[in-house]
Amino acid sequence: MSKQFDVIVIGAGPGGYIAAIRAAQLGFNVACIDEWKNEKGGPAPGGTCTNVGCIPSKALLQSSEHFEHARLHFADHGISTGEVGIDVAKMIGRKDAIVKQNNDGILYLFKKNKVTFFHGRGSFVKAADGGYEIRVAGKEEETLTAKQVVVATGSNARALPGVPFDEVNVLSNDGALRLGNVPAKMALIGAGVIGLEMGSVWRRLGTDVTVLEGMDKFLPVVDEQIAKEAKKAFDKQGLKIETGVKVGEVKVNDQGVSVAYTNAKGEAQTLAVDKLIVSIGRTANTIGLNAEAVGLALDERGAIIVDDDCKTNLPGVWAVGDVVRGPMLAHKAEEEGVAVAERIAGQHGHVNFATLPWVIYTSPEIAWVGRTEQQLKADGVKYKAGTFPFLANGRARALGDTTGMVKFLADAETDEILGVHMVGPMVSELIAEAVVAMEFKASSEDIARICHAHPSLSESTKEAALAVDKRTLNF
Ligand code: FAD
Ligand code: NAI
Repeated sequence: MSKQFDVIVIGAGPGGYIAAIRAAQLGFNVACIDEWKNEKGGPAPGGTCTNVGCIPSKALLQSSEHFEHARLHFADHGISTGEVGIDVAKMIGRKDAIVKQNNDGILYLFKKNKVTFFHGRGSFVKAADGGYEIRVAGKEEETLTAKQVVVATGSNARALPGVPFDEVNVLSNDGALRLGNVPAKMALIGAGVIGLEMGSVWRRLGTDVTVLEGMDKFLPVVDEQIAKEAKKAFDKQGLKIETGVKVGEVKVNDQGVSVAYTNAKGEAQTLAVDKLIVSIGRTANTIGLNAEAVGLALDERGAIIVDDDCKTNLPGVWAVGDVVRGPMLAHKAEEEGVAVAERIAGQHGHVNFATLPWVIYTSPEIAWVGRTEQQLKADGVKYKAGTFPFLANGRARALGDTTGMVKFLADAETDEILGVHMVGPMVSELIAEAVVAMEFKASSEDIARICHAHPSLSESTKEAALAVDKRTLNF
């Protein structure tokens, strides 16, 4: 006997679990299926983000940052610690406990919102009764039916061709987040978001880290001025980043891994390391979905094809998050999940891609929203720019972290904010003000006229807005 629901969501990552909760809030009878297992084989909803992505990486970034502060910066405050050590098992245990809190939190939210959770793999069986039959293969087999299906099956790490992840020597984000000790030498392939975040974690803990990047330019998606400032800081910290490389043969041996590559000058190099992390992007995951059974259309990279409203080629089938086009970000997946649930309810779900914030949680942090200076130039938009350095911010000085700046880009005629770019302390939090401002189509003058608490890092946002009109007060 099949169990009937109004909406079935496949995947309980940020896209899926949020879609399920929003659909339940709107009065639908909702099932959510997720196959992720914890180490005991039990359910671990939350997807990549909770289990091997956003949350655990930020836990390790925090631990390693404390370690670095204790080792290098406490003395500036007159604090003596003696020799500072790191218990990697304890650090990983703390991270695992945080992940579990999040898994349990989602199970609680499902109960609270009356979402029925199924632990197992969900796959399409056939179109049935104007809807779809979905099989759940878990400890027990179940058959569910619904007229509306939301696919939120996420993404997987992309491996180098011919170099599969063994999670012992050649690591994806999964293995990189559960190393048992601090490796002496590590290479990362790809200086993108994961390369920089995970490279920072292990460098802070004492690993000699080299990041090999294929592109000539460092962080091409980031505003050039901001990327340059960040690169300067990473160089100073000893995070070695080589751009313009061509990775050749990767061999796993008794000592670890050897990576052959050609550097930007065309010279052949070999790097012998204990661990290799491959962070060269992610691919949409539709494994096990049995998309063929119902004719769900995928693109040439395996992502589910959707329109602007996340509708697939099949009536009543929607897809959100990493498994579809667009940036692979948890908050983008969540926004799409909410919007789809609202569209199913006949409402006007809305996602504004122009105001999606990005954050790289390195130290200094990098955050931005809207277009970069290079994009505005390419688009032929006339703009004014204003920057303010954290060096001139009292709170940053008190924190002992004056790296970086805030940069505003505003329309030359209307003064509407077109982009805000930041590198520096806690800019992951500061960027929210810029997102709100852009969402409300604020001008740089609007921000310049708003009272910001003193002393706070947010005063740099106000000062950068003032800088657009060349009238900073503190620089
Ligand atoms: P996922 O989170 O991948 O969830 C998909 C879920 O579907 C999984 O639980 C999977 O088990 C399940 N599933 C798949 N197929 C089936 C099936 N057939 N049946 C049942 N279940 C199935 N983003 C940010 O915004 N901020 C960050 O700081 C950040 N840090 C990251 C750090 C790392 C190391 C990584 C790898 C990613 C990070 N991301 C971050 C990206 C973020 O994790 C993803 O964008 C986000 O998880 C996508 O959500 P999703 O719901 O689309 O998919
Ligand atoms: P990425 O797309 O950020 O970076 C991949 C990098 O690898 C690029 O710079 C690319 O040029 C390089 N590259 C690709 N192939 C290569 C090769 N063969 N040799 C050398 N370099 C190569 O992908 P990443 O870091 O794997 O992360 C995946 C996604 O996860 C990100 O795009 C992001 O959406 C998400 N994420 C978000 C985080 C955040 O929001 N803070 C943190 C971590 C991940």
